[in-house]
Amino acid sequence: MEKIIDEKKQGESLVLEQKEGNKRKLFIESYGCQMNFSDSEIVASILNGQGYNTTQNLEEADLVLVNTCSIRDKAEQTVRKRLEKYNAVKQESNPNMKVGVLGCMAERLKSKFLEEEKIVDLVVGPDAYKDLPNLLAEVDEGRDAINVILSKEETYGDISPVRLDSNGVTAFVSITRGCDNMCTFCVVPFTRGRERSRDPQSIIEEVNDLWNKGYKEVTLLGQNVDSFLWYGGGLKKDFDKAGDIQKATAVNFAQLLSMCAEAQPKMRFRFSTSNPQDMTLDVIETMAKYDNICKYIHLPVQSGSNRILKEMNRQHTREEYFELIDNIRSIIPDCAISQDMIAGFPTETEADHQDTLSLMAYVKYDFGFMFAYSERPGTLAERKLEDDIPLEVKKRRLNEIIALQQKHSKLRTEAQLGKTVEVLIEKESKKSNEHWAGRNSQNTVVVFSKEHYKAGDFVNVKVTDCTSATLIGEAVGYSENN
Ligand code: SAH
Ligand code: F3S
Repeated sequence: MEKIIDEKKQGESLVLEQKEGNKRKLFIESYGCQMNFSDSEIVASILNGQGYNTTQNLEEADLVLVNTCSIRDKAEQTVRKRLEKYNAVKQESNPNMKVGVLGCMAERLKSKFLEEEKIVDLVVGPDAYKDLPNLLAEVDEGRDAINVILSKEETYGDISPVRLDSNGVTAFVSITRGCDNMCTFCVVPFTRGRERSRDPQSIIEEVNDLWNKGYKEVTLLGQNVDSFLWYGGGLKKDFDKAGDIQKATAVNFAQLLSMCAEAQPKMRFRFSTSNPQDMTLDVIETMAKYDNICKYIHLPVQSGSNRILKEMNRQHTREEYFELIDNIRSIIPDCAISQDMIAGFPTETEADHQDTLSLMAYVKYDFGFMFAYSERPGTLAERKLEDDIPLEVKKRRLNEIIALQQKHSKLRTEAQLGKTVEVLIEKESKKSNEHWAGRNSQNTVVVFSKEHYKAGDFVNVKVTDCTSATLIGEAVGYSENN
């Protein structure tokens, strides 16, 4: 018996496929990046085969799993608070409940978690989910269990994820795991291990399966998708040691994109995240070539100052970044571009900060994700540099960056007024049950009156109004793609 599906929200428990005969109840929630939400679908699939169906009710859960994020200190504090909440529920009403921590915090803190948080029975790192059945057997016998071994091979390519939080229209498909870039501020290479790519064949199979189930859009996920490289398995950094045939038949990201676009010509494809140093002209040209690859690139830059980019170990300069932006704009004139920025990296001066603002003025991003620098234990920046920018200064610079971004976002959405855009309907608008919400190719949310349309339809919408983040309009008919 199949059951339903809810909208994804940070930290909210997810509803999943309910398997008849399963007696135990799993409460699973996720924090952090899209990869974590995607990983929770893999975990749910594994546990579905171990006698667990999900519940949204903590009080009745036999097992609580929280998929965690370490990227900034605040993300970790949020998880600590959730553990307090689980503890309270356990004490008050559910004494037999077991609690497991998954994801990046599990990997970072390892057995320290079991010492620091008495409520935790189980600690599992991002590459060890296939070991969950064994680990749970140990927990059942009353022992704490832990596996935080990072893998050179694991991509979960052979597991068919349970679509936990699906709107039935859009889905994520993981294509690489880990990251080799070693940005000095970033904890990801330590928590998710070295970079490896997934077999393109298993990616295409998952895409085809999603299409057959009625999905219309797939986002290919990785920390650094442009450096995707399949040569028969193994770490990206070992590619040089591969044999001649493996090298000759290797598949890169541009080729993977073409394979996806051609396998399902009516499906829309997106990808995230691109690292500027790894994005090739081939990828941009492939995007231009296929109508079903969305015209949107998330292209984090972190800072506009060459000195800070170097301190961050980002492998490009401001000038090279501009060259990339110019290439994107000339090959795909209507491409939307978004950023990630960090304000107040160690040693950042007012002049460096002004460089960030002037870089933004050049690009005029469509939107962005902006953060105050948060020192992460074990990273190169933590070991080599003093976290010397006072919090008030970080916050003030961050606010200036956010204000400028809002101005640019508004310019971008206002430029769409009066135009007709193609929208894939995803779900009901959060603000009104008489309106649909979807996105255009550029990843901007578009809201319009429902009329006779339904979720999963491709509709042409005439834009009549906007905010800095949303286009508002009226449907003028189905698009050709429908
Ligand atoms: N490649 C990844 C980036 C992961 S981290 C991806 O797929 O998104 C996401 C963003 O968090 C980074 O681009 C960076 O802007 C921010 N970030 C990472 N570490 C940080 C830190 N220590 N302090 C503040 N922001 C950080
Ligand atoms: Fe982190 Fe840099 Fe990789 S931000 S995820 S180390 S590209």
